[in-house]
Amino acid sequence: MFPEGVTINALTGEVTPSTGEYTKRLSEFRRIYRDIKALDDLISAGDLVTYKVVEYRAEGSDIFFGTTTMMPGRVGAEYFMTRGHYHARRDRGEIYYTQSGQGILLLQTRDGETREIDMMPGTCAFIPPDWAHRSINTGETPLVFVWCCNQDAGHDYAEIVTKGMRMLVMEKDGVSTCVPNPNFTV
Ligand code: F6R
Ligand code: ZN
Repeated sequence: MFPEGVTINALTGEVTPSTGEYTKRLSEFRRIYRDIKALDDLISAGDLVTYKVVEYRAEGSDIFFGTTTMMPGRVGAEYFMTRGHYHARRDRGEIYYTQSGQGILLLQTRDGETREIDMMPGTCAFIPPDWAHRSINTGETPLVFVWCCNQDAGHDYAEIVTKGMRMLVMEKDGVSTCVPNPNFTV
């Protein structure tokens, strides 16, 4: 293993060199957004990529990092968001360092604590171990952030897909507002 300088484009999220990437499209979010009709209408109009994740991973290292680039947009009143997850390993945290755009990082614990952190250029959010995290682009430009965590952290998506998150971020009169999720199940 050798040290390496990795270039990150703060506006596009491009990582050079990178070792992997994936994109997520609206059609993969049927169980995430509340407004099913708005979602289906958007998918029929063209199944947009809503975010892209690019990683830099050195084989054998304990940590890795990368970018998430989230497009602006909404499904009904809900802004484009990530799936949201706990880490499979409950002793693994993460940081999210916002490079450009604006958003909200929703966090929650298994026993009912919730927090929201504004994502704006220069904000480095500390995500403690066993806090679920979901990012939401509340702006009109791409939201780009750098994340860094342990390679063995893993993802547990099932909990959030089945129960939802305790809070939602909705657009109301042109402003992003955090509201309790009426459909959250304990
Ligand atoms: C890794 C991490 C990020 C997210 C990415 C997409 O632990 O938190 O790399 O994986 O922002 O979000 P999800 O995975 O929730 O769709
Ligand atoms: Zn994570």
